[in-house]
Amino acid sequence: MSQLIAPHGGHLVDGLVSADEAARLKRLAGSLPSWDLTPRQLCDLEMLLTGAFSPLDGFMTRRDYEPVRDNLRLADGNLWPMPITLDVDQKFSDSIGDARQIALRDPEGVVLAILDVEDRWEADRALEAQQVFGTTDRKHPSVSHLLERSHPIYVGGKLHGLELPRHYDFGHLRSTPAELRAQFTKLGWTRVVAFQTRNPMHRAHVELTFRAAQIAEANLLIQPVVGLTKPGDIDHYTRVRCYEKLLRHYPERTTTLALLHLAMRMGGPREALWHAIIRKNHGCTHFIVGRDHAGPGNDSSGKPFYGPYDAQALVAGHQAELGITMVPFQEMVYVQERAQYMPADEVKEGDSVLNISGTELRRRLQEGLDIPEWFTYPEVIEELRRTHPARHKQGF
Ligand code: ADX
Ligand code: MG
Repeated sequence: MSQLIAPHGGHLVDGLVSADEAARLKRLAGSLPSWDLTPRQLCDLEMLLTGAFSPLDGFMTRRDYEPVRDNLRLADGNLWPMPITLDVDQKFSDSIGDARQIALRDPEGVVLAILDVEDRWEADRALEAQQVFGTTDRKHPSVSHLLERSHPIYVGGKLHGLELPRHYDFGHLRSTPAELRAQFTKLGWTRVVAFQTRNPMHRAHVELTFRAAQIAEANLLIQPVVGLTKPGDIDHYTRVRCYEKLLRHYPERTTTLALLHLAMRMGGPREALWHAIIRKNHGCTHFIVGRDHAGPGNDSSGKPFYGPYDAQALVAGHQAELGITMVPFQEMVYVQERAQYMPADEVKEGDSVLNISGTELRRRLQEGLDIPEWFTYPEVIEELRRTHPARHKQGF
């Protein structure tokens, strides 16, 4: 079982080449066909180069892509639930010709990596949407990405990283998997439970993470996604300021914060499994999956794409081979009589339960209405009001 696996273990891919090799490849890059990475591809590239996507060492070839799409497994049988592909347009694909390598650039034109062109094919993106997300309904953000914005040709092969994408914000919080593993070892943390989030944290989430740490007898890693999340989410600058302020509600030396530059797919169950593997790569032994993990919301007929606990079920079904232990949670709700949060399945009959949805919270912010103390912390409200002022307080 996963508890027996050595802490912070497992092979990590190191996608960056040596300084000498990087200098050589940089000179070579000028003569190679060159592709400007999209925002999504930049996130995927960073995760590949840092080893966050281990065992992947490049963008998928068709040989890996098809079994991942259809059976959540790479060609070698390893569990991997999400296609990680480099999509390019027809014109660029034609320009590759017989070239064996291409250069991948950031928006400033900096060459970040060289890709060995091992495979190139026209993907059936509607089939991918159906298999991976269970739908072709464009209300699903990743389906609309696949069918309306992605490029038709996939190029697969091994990556040779020259440098990581540059970030100018929150550098002190951006730890690679190797850095986090080393930090845990240095702190003597042998059991670490990870919390994934793309939203500001409120009292329910703090309570949930407290309980998870207790249940797992583990230290806590809060690891919010700051790459790409669901359209309409609160910006990551605001969120990170909230997370930093919340850290002091945790007992000293029990909890740490690190940002993850992941492009989420809002893939529900498959995404939860993917998140668990990514956290294992970052040296965690446990991973929280609560209600509606990575949920994309409702489809065109108003029905949720996935059931609220489908993600837990899929992760549970693969627990034995995952190498990281899921800590599942029912919905955390506030029980008025007890003045405390608890999982919905522990609420007694007759107790009154209070809740404020994300939509309701945004409405209250927009209209300048009261946000109750039982729901969140004063410093979180203050931060949210600063960046999301009520409409009547906004200029034209
Ligand atoms: S997610 O897209 O990153 O999953 P979110 O930030 O809302 O979205 O949730 C982060 C994690 O906390 C997920 O595991 C989710 O299931 C869990 N979670 C969020 N709110 C609750 C809640 N009220 N009760 C139980 N689990 C929750
Ligand atoms: Mg949610």
